[in-house]
Amino acid sequence: MHYSVLTLFPQLLEPWLDEALIGRARAKGLIDISLHNLRYHAHNKHNTVDDYPYGGGAGMVIRVDVVARALQALREAFETIDAVILLSPAGRVFNQKLAEELSQKKHLSLLCGRYEGFDARVENLITDEISIGDYVLMGGEVAALTLIEATSRLIPGVIGDEASHQQDSHSSGLLDYPEYTRPPSYEGKQVPDILLSGHHANIMRWRRQEALKRTLLRRSDMLNKAELSAEDLGFLEKLSQEF
Ligand code: ADE
Repeated sequence: MHYSVLTLFPQLLEPWLDEALIGRARAKGLIDISLHNLRYHAHNKHNTVDDYPYGGGAGMVIRVDVVARALQALREAFETIDAVILLSPAGRVFNQKLAEELSQKKHLSLLCGRYEGFDARVENLITDEISIGDYVLMGGEVAALTLIEATSRLIPGVIGDEASHQQDSHSSGLLDYPEYTRPPSYEGKQVPDILLSGHHANIMRWRRQEALKRTLLRRSDMLNKAELSAEDLGFLEKLSQEF
């Protein structure tokens, strides 16, 4: 997978993308990330990428011609671009399913806004508009990082244990079960005995039930879409009688 990020602040993204699992995945050649400064495509005396909004109002708007030139330069450099995603609070809301879909692509171009946003005519230049949630950030950079984090970890080899993302919160349609490690007792709180029992089948059942319980208590909306067995449904029925 190649990610191209178009931003006015590539230096904000660099340190994040150089370290830890993403840095390692890049070093191993599992993913490629290139950062492109929109300002290089300003093509005017003062290198400005933005201008006042027609009709008046606060803030500045990023010019459509600047974005068009930046994307054209990307297309000339890479043949593989199969999605141009604008990060904006007005986009469709990102979730695990969308992360799974996007992780199958060859090349995602991520367009990060600042100021009041882009000239509305960028809609003709993009293939998708995505928001990471119902709140407004100061720019699209953190949203682009979120999208890179959530999609790259689904690419085989990027995180150590491939099975582990299938049991993640959200991948299975449920929140994850609670995990414990040493010490077995901490300030009077014990690790559940079953996890120390060595009985694999019982541990699996307990984990499933804990995931169901957590999801019911914290995100009951998710249960409508989750794949649930007859045993799961029976457990949930019993639980709801208890509460
Ligand atoms: N830019 C500003 N706010 C955003 C959000 N919620 N999602 C994506 N990009 C953004």
